[in-house]
Order: sequence, then C-alpha cells, then structure tokens
Amino acid sequence: MTTSADFSTSSLSFDLSAGPQPADTSARDDSISFETLGLPRPLVRALARQGIDTPFEIQRATVPDTLAGRDVLGRGQTGSGKTLAFGLPMLARIADGGRARPLHPRALVLVPTRELAMQVNDALLPLGKAVGVFLKTAVGGVPYDRQIDSLRRGVEIVVATPGRLADLIARGVCRLDDVEITVLDEADQMADMGFLPEVTELLAKTPADAQRLLFSATLDADVDALVQRFMTDPVTHSTAPPTAAVSTMDHHLLLIPPRDKFPVTASIAARAGRTIVFARTQLGVDRLVAQLAAVGVRAGGLHGGKTQRMRTRTLAEFREGRTNVLIATDVAARGIHVDGISLVLHVDPPKDSKDYLHRAGRTARAGETGAVATLVLPKQRRTTLAMLEKAGVQPAEVRVRAGDPALAELVGAREPSGVPVRVEPEAPRRPSRPSGPRRFGDRPTGERRYGGRPRTHTR
Ligand SMILES: Nc1ncnc2c1ncn2[C@@H]1O[C@H](COP(=O)(O)OP(=O)(O)OP(=O)(O)O)[C@@H](O)[C@H]1O
Ligand SMILES: [Mg+2]
Repeated sequence: MTTSADFSTSSLSFDLSAGPQPADTSARDDSISFETLGLPRPLVRALARQGIDTPFEIQRATVPDTLAGRDVLGRGQTGSGKTLAFGLPMLARIADGGRARPLHPRALVLVPTRELAMQVNDALLPLGKAVGVFLKTAVGGVPYDRQIDSLRRGVEIVVATPGRLADLIARGVCRLDDVEITVLDEADQMADMGFLPEVTELLAKTPADAQRLLFSATLDADVDALVQRFMTDPVTHSTAPPTAAVSTMDHHLLLIPPRDKFPVTASIAARAGRTIVFARTQLGVDRLVAQLAAVGVRAGGLHGGKTQRMRTRTLAEFREGRTNVLIATDVAARGIHVDGISLVLHVDPPKDSKDYLHRAGRTARAGETGAVATLVLPKQRRTTLAMLEKAGVQPAEVRVRAGDPALAELVGAREPSGVPVRVEPEAPRRPSRPSGPRRFGDRPTGERRYGGRPRTHTR
C-alpha cells in the first residue's frame, strides 16, 4: 500500500488518510449484514433477490453514518460498491418521508456522465421499487418530455448530469427546495472537468441543512471547495489510500516499437475475453474501430462526439456480450460497470495517475480478477513509469513485438482472422468545435486542453 504526496490532505478541511483496514475493499465480514447496518427489511430482501447479502467494506463503513443523517465523504477503490454505499441509505431515508411533490425531487444524485447516470439509476430502480421510491434520470442528449413528465408526476430521486438538471430548473420544471439528500458520485471528476460552478449553483439551490454525500475512488483536494462550503461536520471514510492497488489486478507495461502499435493492439483486441480499450481522442477511437474491423475484429466505439442513441446502443451491445471489445475515450473511465471485463488496454497512456486508476478499475471489480496492459513507445517510457509510480502501481515491464508469444501468454493475444467485418454506419457526428472545450478528456482530435470552465457540457 502506498500513499502519494499528491493526495496529502494536511491543509484540507477533511482528512482522507486511510484507516487500518485492508486494501481489499470487497473483503467480507460475514458477521455484519445489511440489516444490522440499519437498513429496512424490504430493501434487504430486494438485495437478496439479486444475490447481494453481505455488505462490502465501504458499505459497512458509511451506511450507518448516512442513515444517521451525517454528511459523508466516502473513498473506496474502483469496483468496491460505492453505488450501494450511498444508494441504500438514501433509499431508506427517502422511503421514510413519503411521496415527492410534483416538480420537487427529495434527493439528487449528480454524476459526470450520462452513461453513469443511467447505470446508477438502473442499479437503484428495482431497490427503490421495493420501498416505494421512484427514480428518474435527467441527462442530456435525450428528449426532455419523459424527464419533464416524470417530474410533473413527482419523482423522489433524480439521477442527473449537472447540465441537464440546470436546464430543467431553468425551464421551471424542477425545483430543489425539497431536496433532503444530495450525492456527488465521482465528485473529484466533476470538479476536475470544470463542473464546479454548475455543481455549486445546484447545491446552493438545495436547503442549507440538507444532507450531502461525496463519493469517489480518488476523492482528493479538488473537492475541498465543495466540502468547505456545503458540508457540515462531515465524517470521512476512506477504506484505502487512493493509490493502493486493487489486489486482484495485474498490471503490464508493454514496450513496443512504434510501427507495431496497431498489430499489437489488433492481436490483443482479438483475444477471447471481454476487453475495454482506452484511446485518447474521439478520432483515435473511430480510427481504431475502423482499422480493427478491416482485420476482422468487431469493436464498438464510445465517445462524447456520438449521438446519445449510439452511445447507449454501443454500451448495451458490450454489456450484453454482443461485442467483445469496446474502444472508448475517458467518457467510459469513471464508474462504468460491465460484468466480466478481463482486460483493460490503454493504447494511449492516460493523462495522469488518477485517470489510470479509473480506466484500470473497469476490470477486477467486486473482488474479481483482471489485467491491465499499457502500450508504451520508447519515448513514452519515462513519463509512463513516473505516472504509474504515482498511481501506486508496479507493473511488469515487457519488451514485445507483434506476434510475440509473450503477448499470448500475458494477455491472451491472438492473430485476428483478417476477414473484414462490417462496420455499422456511423451516426452523424456533432460538428466539431476546433476551439471547443474538453468533455471528460474527450476531445475530437489534437492536443489536450486543461483548466477553465467548459462552455458546453456533456449533459
Ligand atoms: N455487497 C455486495 N455484494 C456483492 N456485490 C456487490 C456488493 N456491493 C456492490 N456489489 C457489486 O459490485 C459491483 C461494483 O460496484 P460499484 O459500481 O458500486 O463500484 P464503485 O465502487 O462505484 O466503483 P467505481 O469507483 O468504478 O465507480 C457492482 O456490480 C455491484 O452490484
Ligand atoms: Mg461508482
């Protein structure tokens, strides 16, 4: 277990130094059940129907405080069960208070991406049903009608991306005066990506004495402004330092000659298991999807330049196993859970150690095992090693070429068939803004831009 100076919290209004718990955040303690944590029986029974009967560590740590109405900062590794950690006590508290008034949700969950909003909503919807609590997403890229209809009928919990929620408020169809609980999932990402002003405005519209919960695998200094302004005597639960490697995850650094980058990528993408591949830009994603199709590997492409319909369809195909390979920008790096991803491949090294941990965290979730491989060109080696050290990761370094048997041994690479597969016709791309903003590290093309507030958002 390593702690990094980057995450030193001595000058902050909260203390995230890890407690004595083991790094394996899914470690079980069978003596504690969801019921002994104080959750209502119907909720516990609904969990049991999904085969979830023993709380994970972050859940054991935070549920009692959240149920007691405390403001909570929760940091647990990727895949450690943070969604239920905030979701279950939120549902329990909201179930106690009766139905929402029209246009007046009683709880908010704010997340950085549409896909994550939909996923959180899908995870909590059946549990909410068990206790008479209704949820609805409020995300951009889809029509307003259904979101507005639900709000008019009255919905207890809104799971939203900040931009669309702000729009709905501006249209007069959502008011935050009744909000009793606000959750910021991936709080540091929203801060990182320039959503702070919007999130701040939204929080300021909720009652001052409302409960606030912040969760992320890398909750760090970026969120301090929110903590200082909106949290009252928050309790911090940090089940592992942000740089503690998930113990069931193997890391490989594959040193390759530049001309081998595509053939190595193709052979890894042609492996048998479910693979997620991260590229830096939207163009990089599209190009790789087309190049892989040409050599016989069918892959879906996911990035912020596609229509929401395509984004949703592509992710559904990957979740359902209709495609084995997903190529994505960082839009898919935070919070997204797809069962059984056995390999994360970075074709381009991520921007920093935090992004590495979140991308990597798409595998080895909930105690499962998984591998992470990063393709590194000679000129990228030094910076990549420094970035990995910050991430607390000690990768196995291997020098490989296309067709190397080591690739088959390490990550199950195999030769693609060479028989081209049909690529689905591309949905029309949004006009690219040459000087436009970042959307979750999700640039159409070219160099990254940092800092400043985005002028448009992935709503
Ligand atoms: N107590 C539990 N028992 C069994 N499975 C669980 C339990 N809690 C959560 N899970 C499962 O673990 C998986 C990962 O959970 P979740 O997506 O909440 O992780 P996370 O901590 O939010 O990760 P990330 O940092 O990537 O967002 C989900 O499939 C979830 O259903
Ligand atoms: Mg999560």
